[in-house]
Amino acid sequence: MKKQFIIANWKSHKLPSEIEDWFVNFARFIGVKNESQEIIVCPPFPLLDACLSAAKKHTPFVQIGAQNISRFPEGAYTGEVAGKLIKSFATHVIIGHSERRHYFNEDDKILSEKVLAAQANMLTPVFCTLQADDPIPLGVEIAAYEPTTAIGTGQPADPQEVEGIARSIKAKNGVSYVLYGGSVAPQNVSTYTGLPSIDGVLVGGASLDPQEFAQIIQHA
Ligand code: PGA
Repeated sequence: MKKQFIIANWKSHKLPSEIEDWFVNFARFIGVKNESQEIIVCPPFPLLDACLSAAKKHTPFVQIGAQNISRFPEGAYTGEVAGKLIKSFATHVIIGHSERRHYFNEDDKILSEKVLAAQANMLTPVFCTLQADDPIPLGVEIAAYEPTTAIGTGQPADPQEVEGIARSIKAKNGVSYVLYGGSVAPQNVSTYTGLPSIDGVLVGGASLDPQEFAQIIQHA
């Protein structure tokens, strides 16, 4: 079976008191997962440590990712979280999410610096693109195509369009894997994971509920 990445993006949700329950329930609902699937949970920074501990205890196959990274190394950068620190908890980092581009003015130059910061710390970037021709920095292996009209709207993109765009992202950038993101749910996940050029999904809202996230993995 082809390798699949199923990634939870919790965005700015959840509290320390909710982590143990999420993992206990996720373990209960997921049962035995498929060997070809990589599951990555990306909480807000202050919850990385708790998620890593809870994952080790209840679902050791789950990897932890961050949702952002400083483009600077460790140093005098108030409010930033450096790759070196993220690496203590996580294996992956989401870079270039549309919300980072839109609300925090992250442009192509900043995003390529963030990819370099991830690579310097042996973190795997999951690089989000909003359209087929967004530049993807060199060395990125996992991209996620997430059209803004589909994010958090309940209006997922047309699968045939997604297939065409994923194919062109692979051809232009030489990335190994392209994921789809935007209103993914248990009922629609297989219409994307069944596409020849799609290698998994990036899940926002539906990943907050452990049962729904487990169902997405089972139907992927
Ligand atoms: P959504 O978000 O699943 O809530 O649409 C996806 C994302 O923004 O990564």
